[in-house]
This record gives sequence, structure tokens and C-alpha cells, in this order.
Amino acid sequence: MAVFSLVDSGLRDVDVMLSDVLRRDNLLMAEVSDHLLKASGKRLRPALVLLSGTFGGFPSERLTRVATAVELIHMATLVHDDIIDDASMRRGVASARQRFGDPVAVLAGDFLFAKAFQLFASVNDPRVVHEAAQVVGIMCSGEIQQQLDHGRVASEAEYYSRIEAKTARFIESSCRLGAMAAGLALDEEELLARFGHEIGMAFQVVDDILDWSADPESLGKSVGEDIGQGVYTLPLIHALEQADWSDELRVYLADPKNPPVAQIRELLSQSGAIHYAETVASSYVESAKASLEALPAGPTRSSLEALAEFIVVRDH
Ligand code: IPE
Ligand code: IPE
Ligand code: MG
Ligand code: MG
Repeated sequence: MAVFSLVDSGLRDVDVMLSDVLRRDNLLMAEVSDHLLKASGKRLRPALVLLSGTFGGFPSERLTRVATAVELIHMATLVHDDIIDDASMRRGVASARQRFGDPVAVLAGDFLFAKAFQLFASVNDPRVVHEAAQVVGIMCSGEIQQQLDHGRVASEAEYYSRIEAKTARFIESSCRLGAMAAGLALDEEELLARFGHEIGMAFQVVDDILDWSADPESLGKSVGEDIGQGVYTLPLIHALEQADWSDELRVYLADPKNPPVAQIRELLSQSGAIHYAETVASSYVESAKASLEALPAGPTRSSLEALAEFIVVRDH
């Protein structure tokens, strides 16, 4: 992807390491791994590890290992998330649960987590392992919160705290882990972590908008699914707070198992709720870019700025 051009070769190293790590074990896992490696996704998180680490000089093998481990964690969470969300498509191909069934997908996700932690441990820095373990726990608590919120209209503040846990903290960690692996000073690590947190918030707000507005072909996953799963995201939460729209919307939500997705989509667009969510995402991106200002100017910082801007214009 063009916004990652500075780390293109680093990402190729990550791809090689991913297949090395995944193709060695038993036959079934080899088959699942082949399936998972067929479609790569955006590689946002390993790109952030590599770009953050690049502030420390040339990318090293250590950085490749941490970037690969971060992508493995991400893949594991997607494999498990698709079981929770009953999703049949991921990255433009059948999800692991769709292709192999839930039991194999549970085990495959665990396998990916295990491989990730083996790699994290191999860099011999307890801070790295501690950060990774902590963030996986936080992600789980975000997904648990989403289960507890099932079919319930959370407040906007509750929504932000849920997406912070399930998505933003991991994107923050991707930057922090890159900084750690490259041995950056703590103040630089903090600035990069803050950047990651803010783009992470924007990222999930945009993901939630795309569930309403994207073309499933370019997105690589089904759309209009969140509401049927009882997951009420920012556009809907915001529209329900608008006196002019909330009564009509509540009628649509009366039968939560069969929501009229097309009508709700139209209402969210007409009421300005989608636009509102877009402005929220853009303000997170502005705040992310502001945290980069104290870092040395140059191609790495420019790439991070471009990446932040890409988050709000993407269609996948
Ligand atoms: C999907 O992440 C899960 C969310 C946090 C929204 P990505 O959109 O980064 O997925 P890939 O890696 O590109 O497939
Ligand atoms: C992100 O939420 C889930 C994770 C943190 C793994 P979603 O459930 O919205 O992600 P997608 O839309 O399935 O990729
Ligand atoms: Mg999902
Ligand atoms: Mg989603």
C-alpha cells in the first residue's frame, strides 16, 4: 500500500517470517495457516511497529520479529472475533470459522497467540512481553464489554471506552512495541504511543462507519452486520440522541433480531449521524498528528502523518 512505502521491504520480511512461523507444525495447522496467509489485510499494525522503530535508525531483525508477532496477535483476534460475530467473510475470503468450523478456528486462534508470544519472548526484553500480554488482556475485556452491551444502547462515553479497549490500545501498543524494540528514549515512546492511541480510536470509529457505508467487495467483509449482532456503534448512538430522529429509529429497533438495515442506513445518513462520526474520526486524526510534532521531522514522521490521514479516507 502506498502509505506504507517506507516500510515496504520491512513488511516483506514480516510476510516471510509469518509463513516460516506458521508452516512448520501439524498438517491441519499448515492447512489453516495457508488459508490465513492467502489474504493479507492492510498490515497496519506491523507497519506501525516498523515505522515507530525506524526513529531508532535502521530496521533490525529484532524489529521484524516484534512486527510479525504483532500481526500474529491481530490475526488471532480476528479468527476469534469472527467466531463471536458469526462472520463468514474476512479479508475477502471465507473466514477461518466458515472454512474449518468453530472448534478448529478456536484452536487456530490459540495457536497464533502462542506463536506470537514465542516471538515476543525471543527478543529478550521483559517490557516487550509484559506490554504484549497486558494489551491482549485489555482487548479481551473490550470484547467482553461488547458482549455485556449486547442489544443495549451505550452512552457515547461508554462506546469510546469500549473501542479504546478492543482496538485503540492494541494500535497504541504496536507503536510502543516498535519504540521498545528499537530502544527509543521513553519520551519518544510516549509520543508514539499517544499517536497510536488516537489513530486507533479513529480506526475503530471508521470501521464502524464502514459497516454501514462500505462496499463489501472492497471492504473484504460483510457489511450491515453490527446491528444484527446487537452491536450499536457511534452513528446509531448519536442518532438516538437526536430528538428529531430517535422516535423513528426506536421503531426500527423494536425487533432487534430483524432490524431493517436499509432503512436504518438511510436514516443514519440523512440525520447527519454518519457525518458526525466522520468528524469524530477526523478530530482523533488531528490529535494524533499533533503528538508527532515533537518527533524529528523527516520521511518517517511524514509516513506516519500520511498513514493517519489514510485511516479516515479508506474504503477497506
Ligand atoms: C479489523 O482490523 C479489526 C478492527 C479492529 C476493526 P483491520 O481493518 O486492520 O484488518 P486487516 O488486518 O486489514 O484485515
Ligand atoms: C474489532 O471489532 C474486533 C477486534 C478487536 C478483533 P469488529 O468486530 O468491528 O471488527 P471486524 O469489523 O469484524 O473486523
Ligand atoms: Mg467482528
Ligand atoms: Mg467492524
